[in-house]
Amino acid sequence: MTYVVTDNCIRCKFTDCVEVCPVDCFYEGENMLVIHPDECIDCGVCEPECPVDAIRPDTEPGLEKWLTVNAEYAEKWPNITIKREPPSDAKEHEGEADKYEKYFSPEPGEGD
Ligand code: SF4
Ligand code: F3S
Repeated sequence: MTYVVTDNCIRCKFTDCVEVCPVDCFYEGENMLVIHPDECIDCGVCEPECPVDAIRPDTEPGLEKWLTVNAEYAEKWPNITIKREPPSDAKEHEGEADKYEKYFSPEPGEGD
């Protein structure tokens, strides 16, 4: 199994998660992060750190799409290990519906 980042992260990107990961397996896109499924050791410590509940274990039903997104973009985006200020409008996008369809960007983030 692995943990995956889901659509709640899009345009929120609080980055509390990266600080606690013991294996530094978060990767940064323009407006969300993903977890590398082959690097994640399933420790679960990042899950409660996310203020918008964007991180889920892939054993939950219905997360196949997010496993695919995490696996694909973890190979394309740069690694991020240091917490950064979230986007200025992050609060406005908390819990918003259909974020993937509206905002998903395949472009890489800055990384560190
Ligand atoms: Fe990192 Fe553990 Fe979260 Fe996997 S479950 S991404 S190893 S903190
Ligand atoms: Fe995203 Fe939550 Fe991490 S919003 S960047 S998964 S703390």
